This record gives sequence, structure tokens and C-alpha cells, in this order.
Amino acid sequence: MARPRIAVTRRIPEPALERLAAAGELWVSEHDRPLAPDELRDAVAGADAIVTLLHDRVDAELLDAAGARLRCVANVAVGYDNVDVAAASARGVLVTNTPGVLTEATADLAMALILAVTRRLGEGERLIRARRPWSWHMFFMLGSGLAGKTLGIVGLGAIGAATARRARAFGMQIAYSARRRAPAALEAELGGARRLELDELLGGADVVSLHCPLTAETQHLIDARRLALMRPGAYLVNTARGPVLDEAALVAALRAGTIRGAALDVFEHEPDVHPGLLELDSVVLVPHLGSATVETRTAMAELAAGNVLAVLAGRPALTPVNAGALAGTVQHN
Ligand code: DGY
Repeated sequence: MARPRIAVTRRIPEPALERLAAAGELWVSEHDRPLAPDELRDAVAGADAIVTLLHDRVDAELLDAAGARLRCVANVAVGYDNVDVAAASARGVLVTNTPGVLTEATADLAMALILAVTRRLGEGERLIRARRPWSWHMFFMLGSGLAGKTLGIVGLGAIGAATARRARAFGMQIAYSARRRAPAALEAELGGARRLELDELLGGADVVSLHCPLTAETQHLIDARRLALMRPGAYLVNTARGPVLDEAALVAALRAGTIRGAALDVFEHEPDVHPGLLELDSVVLVPHLGSATVETRTAMAELAAGNVLAVLAGRPALTPVNAGALAGTVQHN
């Protein structure tokens, strides 16, 4: 019997590649860049499983280019907005993601951004690197303290909760907006976290941190109207997905002083960044580093490989996205 063909669209950590190589004919892109759509289609043709990164658009066209052997799309990210899950389900293809293993690293980065923007770290670093003269004085580059302030978490999933736990250690109160109320034990652990409607949360928080997935409902969830609800001294942090936030509206809000600052790990048209953001000192910008630790990226890749191995062996995937939708459909192989 022919060994399954596994296509990996961009290099991932070695331990995962070794596991995949043991399970089938492995093809790994040699390019240190996202593949262009036609390259991606060629790469996946005839594959039984594909391992994708968050910059790969997995749509009906790509799934058709892969062909009837395809059984699994293992996305190496917790977010899977780059994958047309309905199109995959319609073709009997299981989609998997990598939840859990990146929770702490992403929450660390969210907390780092909260501290960076409220304490003006980027601005201070730029000042020193520009060799501009400075001396300590009582009013020099004052930021905003966190103790006693309110952190508004938009989307209290695993990463939102982990960020809130960190913020509690800095003395912050927690409010959150979410589709469902969190378990009472979690609310209690977070010092009596209050669930609020999003508009109310925005009006009351000193720092707002976005942790919701990108879906049709959350596209531009934070737009000009909602930015205008925020406090003039408030800060906005986004480690979720860029399009959750209307970047042009954010630039306008920052220029107008509607809010005081923002810290962004993700961008609406990644890797492009709105030019207006680059000109604002009140913004901290980092290039999608949420899960970027050696440990976390290795764990993400290994989880994705574990999913591929499970599916190819006919076992349930470890972290399936659309297992429910596939139940009852016949998977082709
Ligand atoms: C994810 O897994 O969705 C993260 O954005 C990767 O850093």
C-alpha cells in the first residue's frame, strides 16, 4: 500500500517533521516565505494530509487542488480563520488546530504589551536609540499604573482567562464580555470578574484586551463607534486577530485622543501595517509574536503532527475543529 503523502507548507520544528516523516512521504516547502496560491495548489496536489500555517488560505479551490485523497488539514495555530471549515467538512476533510499549548505564551505577550503601552516602553526605547538628550525629572515620560484599574477582556476563553490571571497579579480588576457567562469558579478566581455587554465593558475599562476568534461576527468588532465608547485615558491591546479591529478607525481615534494608546501583535492586512500606526508614538507594534517561544512553537508543531498521525491511522484527532460536522459524512481515502 502506498505511503500517505504529507505536505507541509513551510518549515516547522524538527521533532514534528521527524514524526511526520516516519508516517508517510513528507514534502516540506523549501521556501522561507508563504507560498503563493499557485505554489500552494501544486504543493498539496495528491496529499493525504496537509500541515498549514496561519498565512495559508485554505479554501474550496485549494481543497479541490489537493484532491480526493485529502483527509486532514492540520493548521499550526489555535485560530483557524484562514481555513474554510465548511468547505473542508463538505469534502469530508478533518480540520485540526492547536489549542491549549500556546495559551500561556500568548497571555505572557498580552501582559507584556499591556505593560509596554501603559509604561511607554517603545517610546522610551526609541528615544534612547535615537540618541536624543534626556534627564530624569518628575514629569519625564509618565505612564499609567495598573493597580486598581480595570482590565476589560473581550472573549474569556483560555487565553483571555490566562491574561486576566496575570493582570490580577498586577492588582487589576477584571471585567469581561463573552457569549456565555464564565463558570462561577473562574469568575471567583479572577477576583469576582464581572460579565458585561461589550459596549458597557468598553466604557468602563482602563485597558481593553481582545481575545476573541476572528469570525464573520467579530470582523471589525471594534470599529469607530465602539472606539468612541472607550475612556479617553484607555488603552487597547490586540493579540487575537487583526481584522477584529478596524485599523483605520484606530488610527483616527488615537490621533483624535479618543483613547490614549494601543498595543498590537496582529494586523488587519498582515504583514502590512497601517502607515498611520507607524507614525504614532502611542502605539506599540510587534510582529505576531504571541506564540513565539521555542517551547510553544515546538509544542504547536508536535500537536499538529499528532493530529495528522492520528487521522492517517484512523484514530480520532487530538484537537479536531469539525469532527461534529464530519460525523455522518463518509471520509474518502
Ligand atoms: C494562533 O495560534 O492562532 C496564534 O495567533 C499563533 O501565534
